[in-house]
Amino acid sequence: MSLLDKLNWRYATKKFDETKKLNPDQLNALLDAVQLAPSSAGLQAYRIIVVENPEIKQKLRDAAYGQQQLTTASHIVIFAAETNLDGQYVKNYIDRIAETRGVDRANLEVFETNINNNVNRMTDDLKIVWNHKQAYIALGVLVSAAADLGIDSCAMEGFDAAKFDEILGLKVLGLTTSVIAPIGFRAHDDALSTALKVRRPKEELFIHI
Ligand SMILES: Cc1cc2nc3c(=O)[nH]c(=O)nc-3n(C[C@H](O)[C@H](O)[C@H](O)COP(=O)(O)O)c2cc1C
Repeated sequence: MSLLDKLNWRYATKKFDETKKLNPDQLNALLDAVQLAPSSAGLQAYRIIVVENPEIKQKLRDAAYGQQQLTTASHIVIFAAETNLDGQYVKNYIDRIAETRGVDRANLEVFETNINNNVNRMTDDLKIVWNHKQAYIALGVLVSAAADLGIDSCAMEGFDAAKFDEILGLKVLGLTTSVIAPIGFRAHDDALSTALKVRRPKEELFIHI
């Protein structure tokens, strides 16, 4: 199948087959792809929680207005924005670049200053919004990579983020929930699996200048 075929095959799965679980290789392949998601300045100011525990899934379902994806899915992937994006976070990132690429750290100081200047221009709330945006890009990579791997997913923002933060103990980790994606394999009786895609026509969606 071409990438386009795979993107047509995927859909926002409403009901997963509870008997089918991702094996460790499938999960790792998917997480490898998500790790490679691009982010502004490469900061990746979010973390990704993977929930498999049935009791926690049930609690999360209750905090997601009862949506059945959360308990029928094999795993729930939770994207959580960093709430304390500060100079120390940026420093750690710059250190990692120097180490990974074998670059003299002094040569990265201008880059570090530029990032800090951009970050410091934002209020604390705006920084979190910025980090949420980066997390959504990672979500997009997950949805596409899952399709490529023949794994079903459902991007979801229909949940109470404050309750998710509490259930997952995110506050002490300096995180807050952005968006989630249950992943697994579609149930044979999920009616939406055969529904036609509804999209804005190309001439309306794209503006060529
Ligand atoms: C950010 C985001 C949030 C979404 N939230 C939910 C949700 O809470 N529950 C749900 O069933 N679907 C949710 N969806 C799925 C969309 O309804 C779905 O992607 C859209 O209707 C297009 O259909 P398709 O993905 O099947 O092609 C969400 C999708 C995105 C991208």
